[in-house]
Amino acid sequence: MELFSLAGKNALVTGGTRGIGLMIARGLLQAGAARVHISSRKPEACEKAAAELAEFGEVVPIPADISTEAECLRLAEAVGDGPLHILVNNAGATWGAPLAEFPASAWDKVVDLNLKAPFYLTRALLPRLREAATPDDPARVINIGSVDGIMTPGERYSYTASKAGIHQLTRVLAKELGPEGVTVNAIAPGPFESKMMAATLDAFGEVIAGTVPLRRIGRPDDMAGTAVFLASRAGSYVNGAVIPVDGGLTTL
Ligand SMILES: NC(=O)c1ccc[n+]([C@@H]2O[C@H](COP(=O)([O-])OP(=O)(O)OC[C@H]3O[C@@H](n4cnc5c(N)ncnc54)[C@H](OP(=O)(O)O)[C@@H]3O)[C@@H](O)[C@H]2O)c1
Repeated sequence: MELFSLAGKNALVTGGTRGIGLMIARGLLQAGAARVHISSRKPEACEKAAAELAEFGEVVPIPADISTEAECLRLAEAVGDGPLHILVNNAGATWGAPLAEFPASAWDKVVDLNLKAPFYLTRALLPRLREAATPDDPARVINIGSVDGIMTPGERYSYTASKAGIHQLTRVLAKELGPEGVTVNAIAPGPFESKMMAATLDAFGEVIAGTVPLRRIGRPDDMAGTAVFLASRAGSYVNGAVIPVDGGLTTL
């Protein structure tokens, strides 16, 4: 349906090589996106995911470790000239350790990637986003937060703080960039299958699914659907929202 079509649009999905980023990259292509850039640290993972997604449309792999501002700038440069309609800040990392042992490195690693990288990358890509924006069809920034930024999980101190931070940054940037024709929203996923969640779901998958009001974990289409909504004409007037996609987990 045209309301949800992404025909002619260019996108960048960080962490687009697996898990939630791959679900979103595939969804954008299936909704008709003209070109989707995917990025992650490992060149071979980028190539593999690009090959996997090729049947759905044009995919450009760009390896980059975006945990520094310099690499965010290089990635923004590598995306090239011309309009960028959709930026998905998805790459993320987590860390769990008891309070007494929680290391300083777990703050740096998680905050650098989950909170600072979306800020640096969005700022660096603003000229491309502005170029894509039209009065009726704003450019879109979609940040991937987490239910952990809304609820109060134990032991993931830097993760929960970084995710609450990205939710708040989403609202601040939405207010600032709205007048320039760029919307900024966040998706706060509940449990979805991915490498990050593999050990947790292996050990507690049934318990977690049994706790979610919809009694299951998220599926790729659940994530793709919300991203496509936010990226398409259907989501044009949504700005500064943090949308839980969690089967109702955050109601508990
Ligand atoms: N899965 C869930 O249930 C869940 C729930 C709530 C929120 N989230 C959020 O969803 C996002 C994606 O998570 P996921 O579960 O799909 O995790 P994942 O399977 O671990 O995927 C993370 C992605 O980010 C890339 N990445 C990691 N470090 C990077 C770095 N320094 N620079 C660039 N790319 C990097 C990884 O590729 P390389 O290893 O090649 O770099 C990979 O493509 C994260 O922001 C996460 O916090 C996930």
